[in-house]
Amino acid sequence: MKSSVLVARAVFPSVLDRLRGHFDVEANASDEPWDAAELRRRLQGKQGIFATGERIDVALLDACPQLRAVCNMAVGYNNVDVDACTARGIVVTNTPDVLTETTADFGFALMMATARRMAEGERFLRSGAWTKWSYDMLTGSDVHGATLGVLGMGRIGQAIARRGAHGFGMKVIYHNRSRLDAAIEADLGARYVDKPTLLRESDHLVLVLPYSAASHHAVGAPELALMKPRATLTNIARGGIVDDAALAAALRSGQIAAAGLDVFEGEPRVHPALLTLPNVVLTPHIASATVATRLAMANLAADNLIAALGCGPHAGRPPTPVNPGVLAGR
Ligand code: DGY
Repeated sequence: MKSSVLVARAVFPSVLDRLRGHFDVEANASDEPWDAAELRRRLQGKQGIFATGERIDVALLDACPQLRAVCNMAVGYNNVDVDACTARGIVVTNTPDVLTETTADFGFALMMATARRMAEGERFLRSGAWTKWSYDMLTGSDVHGATLGVLGMGRIGQAIARRGAHGFGMKVIYHNRSRLDAAIEADLGARYVDKPTLLRESDHLVLVLPYSAASHHAVGAPELALMKPRATLTNIARGGIVDDAALAAALRSGQIAAAGLDVFEGEPRVHPALLTLPNVVLTPHIASATVATRLAMANLAADNLIAALGCGPHAGRPPTPVNPGVLAGR
């Protein structure tokens, strides 16, 4: 008998077709997120969920005891209670690697737009306020040759560091839970430093660390106080890693020069103070948003779901499990 799966948000039709080749599929065609009660109702009797950031918590898992696979179309999986899934024998998967370079491109672009005041300049021009060239009009900070700080040196952090070191002659410093291999450090010219040093020395600090209880407000008022007044902060990781209220205060007082934010605490809501500030570039969580990469992410999430529920050429071996131990126990 075919397994039943739920696709919680709209996704590429070709990917839905692939899933329909293996499963009875119920799909959210409207792309409006379901609330928790609706998600629980729809997930009844389903063995798998193709998720795009929905909260998969103990209450939902307890209400859906037949669930066997949670396949997230994202590299981050802080929306899923992985320990609770593991305890129930549910495999959780994510979509690493396929988005690394695209996300690093965006992170670097956002950092550059922030340092060089591009969004502010565009707003200024469109408003009709540009009447003459001035020596100090919209002057920002150089990126080339500056010190790039990376907090969270996983795949995406390293890809950003590579762009900075090899493309822009930046000095790279980083802080991470674990230190990189010496060969990777040498290739990136990257120096491992403690977090206060990272904050003090970075001209452009980019956050690429996963969200967890431990990284909640990893950058708040005390951390911002250590940064240079000309420094920029770019967050492409997750909302909640930065204390957005403290950041808005630091941007307003000139404690740091500017910020580029693709992710927000409580998104899609944005802290109202950020919306009023000129020195912050705001984008709606689109770091991985190219057609090719989103398609690759969706196909990888589908590969995971198909294999996790025992179908396809890799039955029982989803390519990118987060809790692979569960598979060994099956
Ligand atoms: C990811 O892959 O984690 C992106 O942030 C999309 O959610």
